[in-house]
Amino acid sequence: MVKISPAEITPEHIFLNRRRFMAAAGMVAGSVALAACSPATLNRSEAPAANVEPALTVALGPDQLPAALAHAEPTAGAAQDELGDPLNTFHEITNYNNFYEFSTNKEAVASEAANFKPYPWQVAVTGLVNKPMTLSIEDIYRRYPQEERIYRLRCVEAWSMVIPWIGFPIAALLNDVEPKPEAKYVKFITVYRPEEMRGQRSAILEWPYQEGLRLDEAMHPLAILATGMYGKPLTNQQGAPVRLVVPWKYGFKSIKSVVTIELTDTIPATTWNTAAPHEYGFYANVNPQVDHPRWSQASERRIGETGRRDTLMFNGYEDEVAYLYEGMDLTRSF
Ligand code: MTE
Repeated sequence: MVKISPAEITPEHIFLNRRRFMAAAGMVAGSVALAACSPATLNRSEAPAANVEPALTVALGPDQLPAALAHAEPTAGAAQDELGDPLNTFHEITNYNNFYEFSTNKEAVASEAANFKPYPWQVAVTGLVNKPMTLSIEDIYRRYPQEERIYRLRCVEAWSMVIPWIGFPIAALLNDVEPKPEAKYVKFITVYRPEEMRGQRSAILEWPYQEGLRLDEAMHPLAILATGMYGKPLTNQQGAPVRLVVPWKYGFKSIKSVVTIELTDTIPATTWNTAAPHEYGFYANVNPQVDHPRWSQASERRIGETGRRDTLMFNGYEDEVAYLYEGMDLTRSF
């Protein structure tokens, strides 16, 4: 059960980008009212009160939304995270990626992914639910108001970034499918397209990439499905058109280009845990006290900075998520 209300975490972790988002859409739609609200005229003090529900009402039909955003300038609603650390640049975030379906070279993922086709796209939400659904990206935009969330991303390899995602709480989608009482876990699966993803033609990992969360973790208000970043749709290298983002866990849990979300009663196998069970656990919570067998997790390299900084428990989201793991031995359930 979630102990905090979204309103309580909002001031610290959620920066709505509604007006920029509307402005971007309005520019393309030619809406006079919205076009007047240009990104250059906005600043953070104009953002809606943080505890206001993000009722995104754009002057566009949902079918037009991804195309409209594609033309928008990359913008974010704030320049820093709630700890005061600056956002990584759009260029940094989109040119240093882990996406083994395309390449194991972080700097080559962007070019290797250039010809991937994220539209049209469908996400099946299945398994132990009363109301299974298959959603297109347009359905997702239509059903779920998109918000900006500025989160730290901490890779298990000990580098990190601050990223202004656009997305929505996965809890909203899970509530819509009505999990059955026996559903305890959520399994996520990436698209399998070896013809477009050359990494899937080799056996470096088991394909398709698969991840999992406990249902209560997935229902946590900080866990989102991201559809964009810096006010634009996700780039291919980031996992277009929709990916998971779980900011208190190592980055490998944040599975990209998701096509299946399945509720299960047994713990799902996950790609990295299957590949190296002694190195990568199911939980993968960021924890500076539990080292990787081959390197320390006590500190990290923030991309764009020199030197190292201390890694924070649960990646700095301890106050919000620690209750999920009360009573657990985090050195064993790593
Ligand atoms: N999802 C898929 N399908 N394939 C991957 O190789 N890499 C993971 C995660 N999601 C990966 C994936 C890892 S190790 C990290 S650190 C993050 O994506 C990186 O996300 P970014 O490239 O957007 O920073």
